[in-house]
Amino acid sequence: MTETIDLDKALYPDLSERRVVIAGGTGDVGEGLVRAWLKTGAHVVVPSRSEGKVGEFRQALSDIGTPETLSFAVGDYTGFDAAQRMAERITAEHGPVTDVVASIGGWWQGKPLWEISEQDWQRYFVGMTTAHVATARAWSPRLPRTGTYQLILGGSAVAPVPGASIISMQQAGLLMMRRVLSEEAGERHRVAAQILGPVVTRARRRIDPDWVTNEEVGLVSAGIAARPEATGEDYISHDKTQMLGTLRGLGLYPQ
Ligand SMILES: NC(=O)c1ccc[n+]([C@@H]2O[C@H](COP(=O)([O-])OP(=O)(O)OC[C@H]3O[C@@H](n4cnc5c(N)ncnc54)[C@H](OP(=O)(O)O)[C@@H]3O)[C@@H](O)[C@H]2O)c1
Repeated sequence: MTETIDLDKALYPDLSERRVVIAGGTGDVGEGLVRAWLKTGAHVVVPSRSEGKVGEFRQALSDIGTPETLSFAVGDYTGFDAAQRMAERITAEHGPVTDVVASIGGWWQGKPLWEISEQDWQRYFVGMTTAHVATARAWSPRLPRTGTYQLILGGSAVAPVPGASIISMQQAGLLMMRRVLSEEAGERHRVAAQILGPVVTRARRRIDPDWVTNEEVGLVSAGIAARPEATGEDYISHDKTQMLGTLRGLGLYPQ
């Protein structure tokens, strides 16, 4: 039976002392991350490569008005130098950042491995992994001991999706990045990932009741930040039942 999750019953942590950067925050999953973190009282900063994307995103958030605790930083952040400049700029404009959630990405599917084009490879493997590595590289040295670096990943990180070789390899590589970063960051800051099945977002035309929602993903992310012992772990929520277990395990939903 499909579980239901009523976020009106959720136990949002108080993160009003925190400042989070949500890279990819204008995206489909990013929207839920931004909404959930805003509910915790945290200051949320979303970098975006385009003013137009920020405008569309503000429109998507129009039901919550224009929260004072939401800021944008328009500019590139997807190359090594660009990510460093963005991190310096956000820190200078807003002050120290405690948490970073990387929800950078997008989906590609449609051809077997032997038919993929170099253009698609460069865009979906090289471009996106570079953006993730650049973001981790720029922010990891700046995070406090109590802070988190978090990655949002899909199930293709652990199970191959036929016709989506590029994304499967990219997500598997990013999962290994999470593990290496955990080892290398040690006690410097916490590191975690979420591994998700299909996510309900504003872009979806069809929705399955068993899919997790982007705001549930956001709540888990806030819960990881709030829980000092949450580190070195991949929180797996392929469907609603697993998501309920994840939320309860983090003390974010009544038993
Ligand atoms: N959507 C799902 O159902 C789903 C399910 C499971 C897991 N995930 C995972 O969640 C993460 C985010 O996915 P999403 O569906 O939210 O992605 P999305 O909406 O397509 O994009 C997320 C954001 O990434 C930023 N970005 C930075 N560099 C990029 C690049 N080279 N190419 C494209 N976008 C880039 C963009 O922000 P700016 O343009 O504002 O800079 C974009 O808004 C991915 O790791 C994905 O695997 C998604």
